[in-house]
Amino acid sequence: MHVELTINDSPRALFVDESESLATALRRAGHTEVLCGCDGGTCGVSKVFVDDEVRMACGMDALEADGSTIRTVQSLGTQGALHPIQQAFVDHHAVQCGFCIPGMIIEAAALLAENPDPSPETVRAAIDDTLCRCTGYQKPVRAILDAAERLRTQPEAADGVIADE
Ligand code: FES
Ligand code: FES
Repeated sequence: MHVELTINDSPRALFVDESESLATALRRAGHTEVLCGCDGGTCGVSKVFVDDEVRMACGMDALEADGSTIRTVQSLGTQGALHPIQQAFVDHHAVQCGFCIPGMIIEAAALLAENPDPSPETVRAAIDDTLCRCTGYQKPVRAILDAAERLRTQPEAADGVIADE
């Protein structure tokens, strides 16, 4: 069966199995930045935007995504020009093994698009379904709060931010 998707602004037609998850289909299509930790919707690392809504790609059938616009963490900055959220994670040493980071960054982008000035408690609540075994969460929380400030004071830095709403 085949699905037509827009992935990070590029139209793609993918052949998928009936029961294949969106995460598996994206990885087979070369989007290995979409990670799978549990494959059961509990670790949060497989988060992507599907039509501007955060979804666990492991918990969604690829067929269900037919016609959707997908944005992975790769749709943010590039290695040479990081998005302010990514730069804040680097600056606050919030990346250790890095495995949770795609989920953290997607969730942070969704939060800051909706709430540009979140409280620490709001940030913690936003990332509480993205499991991190390394950082103890303090550094990611600090990074997201700092990214919020950067985006408020330098709105032009938000060019290319994932969610448009
Ligand atoms: S792999 Fe999708 S939530 Fe864990
Ligand atoms: S940095 Fe290792 S799991 Fe979060």
